[in-house]
Amino acid sequence: MSTQVTEQEQAEAEEESTHQRRRLAEKAERQEVRDRMRERAETDLERADTVFDLKVFRYDPDIPEKEDPRFDTFPVPFTKGMTVLDALMYARDHYDSSLTFRHSCRQAVCGSDALFVNGTQHLGCKTQVVDLGDSEGVPGQIRVEPLPHQEVVKDLVVDMEHFYDQMDAVEPYFDADELPSGELEEQRQTRENREKIKMSARCIWCGACMSSCNIAAGDNEYLGPAAINKAYKFAMDDREGENRKQERLEIIEQEHGVWRCQTQFSCTEVCPKDIPLTEHIQELKREAVKNNLKFW
Ligand code: SF4
Ligand code: FES
Repeated sequence: MSTQVTEQEQAEAEEESTHQRRRLAEKAERQEVRDRMRERAETDLERADTVFDLKVFRYDPDIPEKEDPRFDTFPVPFTKGMTVLDALMYARDHYDSSLTFRHSCRQAVCGSDALFVNGTQHLGCKTQVVDLGDSEGVPGQIRVEPLPHQEVVKDLVVDMEHFYDQMDAVEPYFDADELPSGELEEQRQTRENREKIKMSARCIWCGACMSSCNIAAGDNEYLGPAAINKAYKFAMDDREGENRKQERLEIIEQEHGVWRCQTQFSCTEVCPKDIPLTEHIQELKREAVKNNLKFW
């Protein structure tokens, strides 16, 4: 019995030590890659015509030494066509692999890399480094922070849950009163109607508008520009059923809906898809007034 236990213990100890050896080997390999990338960065910096400082907000609540917010500065060699997202990726790949930020499509489609760059909301992948400089060209320093008015999860990553909840609150789905009779028959829309709502359909759920809005910053329940724009898309669609339209107008008219907007245009200014958000909110306000007059 005791021999069996000893054998089992020995087997476990061997397994553990194999694991540990593997972990140490992997760690050493990662360190080697990091050292190589750093050396490459040094060569890049020596060869580059222009180098700028990328100053990045850092915060990691899970690591005691990193839980105090701070800024780290990374020298980045400028290359033609470089975006802010490219610069962040350069810093992560060459200096600090723990630098955390979201990105996916790299072509202003997925909406995952909205950031606060030099004090304004921008999509990292759509923002050219040269455009942040003065007329002389590339800026000496670019400051990148997470979107304001959102809870920071780590470094540049914010919690988008509240934003998604607000989008969901306007019930963003189509609901016609009558369905086409034939199976798989299309519910066609007139060209004019499509033209009217086409800008509202461009939203990529990046959250830049919400983050720029003073009203949303002070009123956590305010639906916010993106959700109201989403409501606009459906409310202005001719195919939308009357009952559904009525319900949606009630949602956007509520205390924390369209009437909260003070037409400051900050959302419209930062929207990377150029959606005329403030105009859409104003139009829905008019629609809500008309709707109420109907019942007098
Ligand atoms: S409306 Fe514009 S800024 Fe707001 S979430 Fe959509 S794309 Fe982003
Ligand atoms: S990475 Fe998808 S929008 Fe920028």
